Amino acid sequence: MRIGVVTEAAAGEARVAATPATVGQLRKLGYAVVVDPGAGERAGFADEAYAAAGAALGDALDADIVLGVDALSAAQLDRLRPGATVVGILAPRIRPELVADLSRRPITALALDAAPRISRAQSLDVLSSMANIAGYRAVVEAAHTFGRFFTGQVTAAGKVPPAKVLVCGAGVAGLAAIGTAVSLGAVVRATDPRPEVADQVRSLGGEYLSIEDPGAEVSATGYAQEMGQDYQAREAQLYAAQTQDVDIVITTALIPGRPAPRLISADMVASMRPGSVVVDMAAANGGNVEGSVAGEVVRTGNGVTIIGYTDLAGRLPAQASQLYGTNLVNLMKLLTPGKDGQLVLDEADVVQRSLLVVRDGESRWPPPAVPVSAAPSPPPAAAPPRPPEPERQPVSPARRMGGVLGAAVVLFVLLAISPAALTVHLTVFALAIVIGYYVIRNVHHALHTPLMSVTNAISGIIVVGALVQIGQHGSAITVISCMAILVASINIFGGFAVTRRMLGMFARS
Ligand code: NAI
Repeated sequence: MRIGVVTEAAAGEARVAATPATVGQLRKLGYAVVVDPGAGERAGFADEAYAAAGAALGDALDADIVLGVDALSAAQLDRLRPGATVVGILAPRIRPELVADLSRRPITALALDAAPRISRAQSLDVLSSMANIAGYRAVVEAAHTFGRFFTGQVTAAGKVPPAKVLVCGAGVAGLAAIGTAVSLGAVVRATDPRPEVADQVRSLGGEYLSIEDPGAEVSATGYAQEMGQDYQAREAQLYAAQTQDVDIVITTALIPGRPAPRLISADMVASMRPGSVVVDMAAANGGNVEGSVAGEVVRTGNGVTIIGYTDLAGRLPAQASQLYGTNLVNLMKLLTPGKDGQLVLDEADVVQRSLLVVRDGESRWPPPAVPVSAAPSPPPAAAPPRPPEPERQPVSPARRMGGVLGAAVVLFVLLAISPAALTVHLTVFALAIVIGYYVIRNVHHALHTPLMSVTNAISGIIVVGALVQIGQHGSAITVISCMAILVASINIFGGFAVTRRMLGMFARS
């Protein structure tokens, strides 16, 4: 079968459904790939790069499987061959007219954005991969417009306070925004009605602002439900207080299948300091912020900037295309069990069923719900109390003296019965033990490994002994001496390398 990669119809769409790298992966699944000339131009991928990856340049709409980022335009749909399969971000939940139009055509349509939030579908979850980029970019846009440091600084020229960032909604985009803002040095706070995200916010370095909700339950789908009026009232109070304090607000609140919940009112925006920035990531879906305009930047009377860009992921087009293309490759792997270039759609598989909008001109939307448990794993059953560890008794001076005397007696007995030639070696050995013991016991445990490797006296003695023996007693002894020097040297120089590396871990960069 042939896969076609189309030029996106929307003028503002810079992404492309396949990159030269993912073309190679699609070909490995047994497909021939045809790319519309210029399809990757806005994302920085030249036609030559696609050709070098093994794609043909031609009419992608004439292929058996047509890959796009956004839904195809009506003109593009008209040119599809009967029986074709189209894949893209179709937003079927909020575009019933598109579902109806697709159902009238003898084609099959898969909405990549309808993947359920279960582990097995993660590799093709395009909403997550794009929201991750968009969350990052939202902070970059905010920082650019804010025009001041995010991180606090104390310099000879004065003190700069850190920027305060409020992220409303800690889903994929929200968490990406939190991580990015924290890494820039801002003080970051976040809200979300799903209690299970509190730990995730904290683990990224943010502060979770909890809105107490007695009815709050762990989400069964990975998405939030619409909140009750009581919750909304308390939420509004919190946002009213926070907007007076923070410099940046990034809103990402989403309830699937519904218009974006309104979180920030015009009064709250008016209470923000001049120069503050609001990024309404949900602007395309009705907006979380009163006064935001989809795709536009609005400046309010009190000097607050409201950014309503709807193409945040597409503002990093090369990377967004690569991640999107990889999501598509993962989908095609799922749909090509034989790796023979033949698409096999299995409706018994919940993932494939969830994506299916239309099959051979017949509507399959909506799919049955797929329950997802994002519940935190139950705490382990209380372990039986461990018996207290026996306290280590310090060795008494008498015992220690006894040990030393015992060792001395053993040494003297050995010296008395050993041949004269061995006496010197035994004495050196005993001294090495005593000195080694006193040197090592005063060093912190964490440094024992490098210390031992450096002070490996035995390796040193071996090298010296081998040097003395080398060339003295025939070729066999010379060979053994050389091997001894080699092995002991590996130990010594390896020890220095290990020490350097370990000490590097303690050094401030
Ligand atoms: P998500 O479903 O992973 O996260 C949405 C979060 O909002 C959830 O954690 C949910 O619990 C939370 N939420 C729901 N009601 C809330 C409320 N009243 N207060 C606070 N939080 C609430 O969605 P994802 O993927 O993170 O996307 C977030 C938004 O960003 C969506 O509206 C999406 O359409 C938008 N988006 C915008 C892009 C752009 O270019 N502007 C690009 C990608 C996504």
